[in-house]
Amino acid sequence: MFKQAHWDEPVIFESGHGGRRGHLVPDVEEDVKKAVGDVMELLPEKLKRKKPPKLPQLSEVEVVRHFTRLSQMNYCVDLGLYPLGSCTMKYNPKINEILARSPSIAMIHPYQDEETVQGILEILYKLARWLAEITGTSEVSLQPAAGAHGEFLGTLIMRAHHKLNNELEDRSELIVPDAAHGTNPASGTMAGFKVVVVPSDENGCVDLEALKNAVSDRTAGLMLTNPNTLGIFERKIEEIAGIIHESGGLLYYDGANLNPILGKVRPGDMGFDIVHINIHKTFSTPHGGGGPGAGPIGVSKELTKFLPVPRIEFDGEKYHLDYERPHSIGKIRCFYGNISVLLKAFAYILSLGAEGLEEVAEISVLNANYLLHRLRDIRGLDVPYAKDGPRKHECVLSVEGLYKETGIRALDFSKRILDHGIHAPITYFPQIIKEAIMIEPTESFEKEELDRFVKTMKMIAEEAYSTPKKVLNAPQNTAIRRLDEAKASHPKTLTLSWKMYLKKK
Ligand SMILES: Cc1ncc(COP(=O)(O)O)c(C=O)c1O
Repeated sequence: MFKQAHWDEPVIFESGHGGRRGHLVPDVEEDVKKAVGDVMELLPEKLKRKKPPKLPQLSEVEVVRHFTRLSQMNYCVDLGLYPLGSCTMKYNPKINEILARSPSIAMIHPYQDEETVQGILEILYKLARWLAEITGTSEVSLQPAAGAHGEFLGTLIMRAHHKLNNELEDRSELIVPDAAHGTNPASGTMAGFKVVVVPSDENGCVDLEALKNAVSDRTAGLMLTNPNTLGIFERKIEEIAGIIHESGGLLYYDGANLNPILGKVRPGDMGFDIVHINIHKTFSTPHGGGGPGAGPIGVSKELTKFLPVPRIEFDGEKYHLDYERPHSIGKIRCFYGNISVLLKAFAYILSLGAEGLEEVAEISVLNANYLLHRLRDIRGLDVPYAKDGPRKHECVLSVEGLYKETGIRALDFSKRILDHGIHAPITYFPQIIKEAIMIEPTESFEKEELDRFVKTMKMIAEEAYSTPKKVLNAPQNTAIRRLDEAKASHPKTLTLSWKMYLKKK
C-alpha cells in the first residue's frame, strides 16, 4: 500500500541557529581590488545594501536533510504514473540533464562574443532546423519560454502579417474552438484580437457549419489543436485550412498535443502557417511548478521575416547572429531563449533519431487507446464523445452521472487517486465536458503501471457507490491532506515568498 512520508518540516527560514554555516566563502577582497578596484566604490549608492540579508544559518548536512525530507513529501514522474491530460508528463532521460549541466554549457555567458560560443550556436541552429523538419515549417524561433509564450508570439506574427497587408484594422477576429486550452483565447486577446468561439460537433471535432458561419473578412486566423484536447484527430483539417485561407486568415497550430503525431504527419503539411512546440512536453524536458520551459514557434516561408531577432545564421563556416530583419516583431525574450531546456531537447532528439520519435508517437497512442478501452466499461465512468475511439494521445472521461448518483465529483475522484501513489489526471478540462477527467499516459509507462491505474480507477468508482465518505475524505495517505486549491491562487492569500509571508502576517 502507498503511504507517503510525512515530516513536520519548517520552512528553511524558520530553521537553523546563529553561527552555523555550510560553506566558507574565500576572502577575495584584495584580489578583486587588484583586478577591478574597490567594488563597493564602483557600485551605485542605490544598489548597495544597507544591512546584510537575513539568510538562514545552517550547516551543509542540515540543508541536505531539509531538502531530502521535502523531496520525500513530493511526487514526480520518476516515481510513477503522471497521467496529466494535455501535459505530456513523460520520463526525462538523465543523459539530457547531465549534458545540460556540463560546465562548457552552464558556464557560458550570453554576452560572450559569438566567435567564442560557436558550439552552442551550432546546437541551437541544428535544433531549429530539426524542429522545422518535424513540424513541416520553414523556419523556427527558439526564443519563447513556454507554449503560451509561443502562442503570444504567434498571434503577434499574425498581427504583423495583416498589418503589412494593410488589413489589420479590418481583421480583428481570432477564431478559437470551444475545446481549446484557455491560453489560446488569452494569447489572442493579449495580441489585441477579439476572440470568436466556435462549438464542437457531436463527434468532438470543430463544427464545420459553425466555422463557415464564423469566418468573414474580419477573420485574422484560427487557433487549433490537432489532435484536439479530447485526444481526437481533426480529420477534416484540410477542409478547415481551406476555409480559413480562402477568407484571408492564417492557421495557428497549438502544439501541446504534438507527441502522438511525431514522424507521422506534420502540422505544416496539414496547412498550418504558425506552429508552437511545447519542448517541455513533447521533447521530454522537465516541467511542472511553472517551468522553466521552451515554446519555440515555426512558421511558413512567407512569415519568416517577422520572426524575433537575433536569428542564428550559418555561412558554411561560422554561425553568427543576424539582427538586420526590418520586419521582425523584435524580441520576445532575452538572448536566445532557455538554453539549458533547448539543449535537453536537442539531446533527446539526437538520441532517439527519426525512427525513435515515430515509435514515441506509436506507443503513446497505443497506451491512450488501451486505457480508453479498459476504462470505458467501468460503472460511473462515461466517455462523452466517440466512445469506441480511436484516440491519439489522451482520452477524456466524465463522472457527471456518478456525481448525480453519489455526490462524488471529478475533484474527489482525483484526490482519491493520490492515495494510491498515482498523480491525479487533469480535471474540469476541456470545459465542454462536465466533471471531466482527462488522462494522458504517454509512452513512458509500461503495461503493469497502466493496469495498476485501471484497477485503481475501478476501485474508486466502486467506493463512490459503496463507501462515498472514503472518496470525499481523500487523500488520507499523502504527506499533506486535502488542500484548498482556491486559497493558493487567491490574491488575498497568495504568498510567493518568505518576505511576502512575513508582511502578510
Ligand atoms: C492544449 C494546450 N495548449 C497550450 C498550453 C500552454 O502551454 P504552456 O503550459 O507551455 O504555456 C497547454 C498547457 O498545458 C495545453 O495543454
